[in-house]
Formats: sequence, C-alpha cells, structure tokens
Amino acid sequence: MRAGFVAVAAEMLSGPCRRATPGLGRLLLVPIINTVPPMSCSGIRRLRSTSSMQGLSELARERSKTVTSFYNQSAIDVSAEKASVRLTLATLLYSGKSPDGHHILSSAKYLHKELPVRIAHRIKGFRSLPFIIGCNPTILQVVKTLKHLQRIVKLIGPCITDQDAEARFCKLVQQLLDDHKDVVTMLAQGFRESRKHIQDESLIRSFLDTTLCSRLGIRMLATHHLALHEDNPDFVGIICRRLSPKKIIEKWVDFARRLCEHQYGNSPRVRINGHVAARFPFILLPLDYILPELLKNAMRATMESHLDTPYNVPDVVVTIANNNMDFVIRISDRGGGIPHHILDKVMDYHFSTAEESAQDPRMNNLFNNITNSGNQSGPMHGFGFGLPTSRAYAEYLGGSLSIQSMQGIGTDVYLRLRHIDGKGESFRV
Ligand SMILES: Nc1ncnc2c1ncn2[C@@H]1O[C@H](COP(=O)(O)OP(=O)(O)O)[C@@H](O)[C@H]1O
Ligand SMILES: [Mg+2]
Repeated sequence: MRAGFVAVAAEMLSGPCRRATPGLGRLLLVPIINTVPPMSCSGIRRLRSTSSMQGLSELARERSKTVTSFYNQSAIDVSAEKASVRLTLATLLYSGKSPDGHHILSSAKYLHKELPVRIAHRIKGFRSLPFIIGCNPTILQVVKTLKHLQRIVKLIGPCITDQDAEARFCKLVQQLLDDHKDVVTMLAQGFRESRKHIQDESLIRSFLDTTLCSRLGIRMLATHHLALHEDNPDFVGIICRRLSPKKIIEKWVDFARRLCEHQYGNSPRVRINGHVAARFPFILLPLDYILPELLKNAMRATMESHLDTPYNVPDVVVTIANNNMDFVIRISDRGGGIPHHILDKVMDYHFSTAEESAQDPRMNNLFNNITNSGNQSGPMHGFGFGLPTSRAYAEYLGGSLSIQSMQGIGTDVYLRLRHIDGKGESFRV
C-alpha cells in the first residue's frame, strides 16, 4: 500500500502538471512543491523548453528521491526493534567521577549504543505519520538530519575503547546538538503547513508529545556526556547539585520582561515568594524551556487585559513550594483568565490567540508607537507550542502542568516536578 503511494508520488513529482490534477495528486503536490512559486499548468507549458522547467523537474526528482528513501530504510528498522535504555537521573548523579576518566568512557559507551536506537525510534515515528505529513519539505528536512546523524554515529566504529574514539564521538555529539537546535520550530512550521489535511487531532498531539520528549531526552543525555568533561564542582554533567529555583526564575523573569517591554512598552513586576531559599539537585534544561514560556504567557495576558492603562498593571506572583517528593512553581497573573470557550483548546499544539489580539486597534497603536514593529506577533507568542510542549516536558520528567483559570480575574499555572533524589523513584531520561 505504502510502496504504491511512493510510486504514485514519485511519478507525479517527476512531471508536475503533466496530468489534470486529481484529488490525490493535488493533495500530494501541495506540500511537496510549496516552495515553488504558484503557476498555472498552461503557464508552465508555455515555459516547457526553458531552464526553469528543467529546474522544476530536478527539484521534483530530488524531492521524490527524498520521499522514497524516507520509507525505505531497512537498517533503521533493525535499530528501531531494539529497546531504549532509560536511566534515572539519580544513577547519573551518583555514578561518581573516577580520576582516570573511566566514568567518561563508560558514559560514551552507553550513549554510543543508545543514540542509534533512539534516533531510529524517532525516524520510525515519522514514518508512521500519514503520508501527507511525511511529504512536507520541512518535515522531510528534519528526518534527513536524523538519518545523517544515524549514519555518522555508525562511522565511529562498533565500540568506543579509547580516548581518541571518545574525542571523535564528542565532536559528533556536539554536531547532533547543533544540527537539531531548530527542530522544534521546524516541526511547528511543518505541522502547521500540513495539519489542515489531518482530521485526527489526537494523532498530532501524541506524535508531537513523543517526538518532543524524546528529543529532550536525547539532548539531556548528549549535553550530560559533554558536560562530564567540565571541571565544575557544582555540577555532575548537566545536574546542578544545588539548584536554586528562585535564581532560575529570576533569570527568566528578566528575559520575559525585556521581551514584554519591547512588545508592549511596559511589563508587569514579578514577586517571588514561598520557599525562596530552597536548593536541591536538578537539571536546568527543561526549566529553561518551560519557565520563559509560562512567564511570557502571564505577562502577555496582564498587558493585553490592561491595554488602556499599560503603565499601571498588576504584578505577576511566582510561588515556590518545596517538599521531599517534589517541588511546585505556581505562576499567578491577573490577566483576566482564560475564557471558558478556549479553556480546553489551550493545550492543543498550534492553538494561539495571538492573531486575534493583533486585530485589537489598541495593540496596533502600542506596536506602532512604541516598537515600530508593525502588528506581527513577536517572539512573545504565536506558535501555540508553549503550553502543550511545557506540559509534555513536565510529564516526561514525572511531573505535571495544570491550569486554574479564574475567568474575569486571572490565571494560576502549576508546574510540579519530581525531585531527582526525593522520596519517590527518580524519573528516567
Ligand atoms: N496566563 C494566561 N492567561 C490567559 N490566557 C493564556 C495564559 N496562558 C496561555 N493563555 C492562552 O493560551 C494560548 C496558548 O498558549 P501557548 O501554548 O503558550 O501559545 P502562544 O503563547 O504561542 O499563543 C494563548 O494564545 C492564550 O490565549
Ligand atoms: Mg505562549
């Protein structure tokens, strides 16, 4: 069935517009050649002998090759059959440093075995998507990068036995981190382009939840391995031995306030209370994603519900609660709450009210007067990925993200994360 689809796609791609576009053809061609400027069939026919026609065919052939190889990779099938080995962070924290660097070699051996399996699982996940999404150029690009990495991990050799091989492996791991840094944006874009063809919302959610969390897991392990080389007594790899939640919150408050001021001309003050002196072992990576997203949302809601008085807005309050099982960060704003009719949509990927608020004439005045940046959504909001991704990350780490909206007043968001060395079992990455 799938091979049949591939053949149809390949045939159609090698000669766009050669036939009247039937339903399937249009469906397949739209996302694949959407980087080509729109042109009618008769327009293309007039240019048939010109080089642009050749360019189109070459582009189409190249794309068809990529689509075909997307579905035909037996080596990946073999790795994808193997189970991934997820370690607890407590194991990483307490595995200890050896003076001869033996711990680094053991970590490299584990990662060298584990990476191809996790990457293969990801590629398999992409291949199980509806064909129409697998044809999207942005999605294809993500998969191409994964496959490239898969190939070069294998080039390191069957096993890492000495420091030279480990050093080469580190370079590769760094490359993996660099090549994949824009993947979330690419996935957001790729799915936005192709999701109009998908009826089943839960399919997109479960794919993105799994893919984004798996990416987080791979990044945590990869960054951990590289960080083992650093000689910082406060850290074991990526685990900060005495992380202060207050300090991390303050760092992201500064960031979000700067963005907010750029966008709205002012920003709410943020008060931090509760267990402000708490310190415990934890990792920055997930907090560095979740906290700015939640703070931006709270500040945006505060500013947009006070557009007539932008220089007199209520504070955002962040409360830290620490105990021997987990810690909770509550972010409370007085931004009017989340209206009833969108409450069950805010956790959907791509759901955002950014466009609606850009329609408000008071927003236009603010933007034009203060930032001169027009009414496009800035980095404050717009992708509709902040809440769903934050919740997926929190759950992946054995915690949760929940929202209480007091419509007419404001919103409380509770981020709950399990301790690495707490009473319960440490989570696995
Ligand atoms: N604290 C909040 N107060 C009011 N509405 C909120 C709040 N947080 C999120 N929302 C609503 O949820 C939507 C989705 O949020 P999010 O996933 O972060 O995407 P984005 O910020 O890109 O729109 C927002 O567009 C907004 O309508
Ligand atoms: Mg947001």
